[in-house]
Amino acid sequence: MQLENIRWRVEDGVGIATFDRPKALNALNSRTFRDLGQLLDEAAQDRTVRALVLTGAGEKAFVAGADIAEMVGLQAIEARCFAEVGQHTLARLEAMPIPTIAAVNGFALGGGCEVAMACDLIYASDKARFGQPEVNLGLMPGFGGTQRLARRVGLMRAKEMIFTGESVDAAKAKEIGLVLEVLPADQLLGFAVDKARKIASRAPIAVDQAKRALEGGASVDLATGCALELQAFALLFATEDAREGMRSFLEKRPASFKNG
Ligand code: CAA
Repeated sequence: MQLENIRWRVEDGVGIATFDRPKALNALNSRTFRDLGQLLDEAAQDRTVRALVLTGAGEKAFVAGADIAEMVGLQAIEARCFAEVGQHTLARLEAMPIPTIAAVNGFALGGGCEVAMACDLIYASDKARFGQPEVNLGLMPGFGGTQRLARRVGLMRAKEMIFTGESVDAAKAKEIGLVLEVLPADQLLGFAVDKARKIASRAPIAVDQAKRALEGGASVDLATGCALELQAFALLFATEDAREGMRSFLEKRPASFKNG
C-alpha cells in the first residue's frame, strides 16, 4: 500500500493504523482521507485482518481535526466535496466488517473526535481530550459530528459541546459515555491491541454478524432489530465455524476457527 500519512502494520490478526502527520498534529487533509480509504478497502478484503486499531503518532495528538490550512482556501462547493469525502470515508470505517477500536492518545478534536466516534470502541489515554471546536473557526462539524456525538452522548450534551466548542478530558469523556476506559498513556496501545487480539481470536463471521445486528438495530424499532438478529443468527448455522465452536465446547477442547 502506498500510504503517505498513515502507518500500517498487521500483527497476529490485528491491523494497526497510526495517523502520522506530526507537523499538523495528525490533522486530516485530502491525502490522509485517500490513505484511510485505501487502507480500509484493503483491510476489509484481507481475511487475515480480524480487528483494526486506530491511533495517532506522537504523544500529543490522536488527530487534531480537519486540516485548517487546507480548508482555509476552499469555496463552498469545494468544502462540500471535502466534507463528502470525509463523511464517506468515516461511513466506510463505521461499516467495516471487522471490529474497529480507536486508541485515543491525545487531542481528538473536530475531525479527530469524528474518526473516533466512527469506531466501534473508544479507549483513551489519561492525556486525551475530546471536542468539536469548529465554532471557534466559524464552522461546524462536517464529518458526521453533529449526528454521531448526539447519538453517543445525548442531544443536550452534544449541543453543549458543539455550541461552546469546549473540549472534555478523558475522565469526563468516560463519564458522558464517549469513552469506554481510560488508561495511563504508556498502557493505552497495548490495552487496545490486547482487546483487538481477543476479538480476533473469536469466530470472525459471528463477530461480523453480531456487529451488523447491533449497528442495524440501533436505528430501527425493537421488532425490526430482533428480525435482523434472527436472520444473522440463522445464517451462522451455515458456517463451519459455528459447527466447530459448538463441537469444541462439547468435546471440551479449544475451538479452531477458520473464518468460514
Ligand atoms: N489543521 C492544521 N494544522 C493544525 C491543526 C489542524 N486541525 N491542528 C494543529 N495544527 C498545527 C498547528 O498549526 C501547528 O503548526 P505550526 O507548528 O506550523 O505552527 C502545529 O500543528 C502544532 O499545533 P499548536 O502549536 O497549535 O499546538 P498546541 O499544543 O499549542 O495546541 C491544539 C494544540 C489545542 C490541538 C491546537 O493545535 C488546536 O486548537 N488545533 C486545532 C483544533 C481544531 O480546531 N480542530 C477542528 C478543525 S475543523 C474540523 O475538524 C471540521 C470538520 O469537522 C470537518
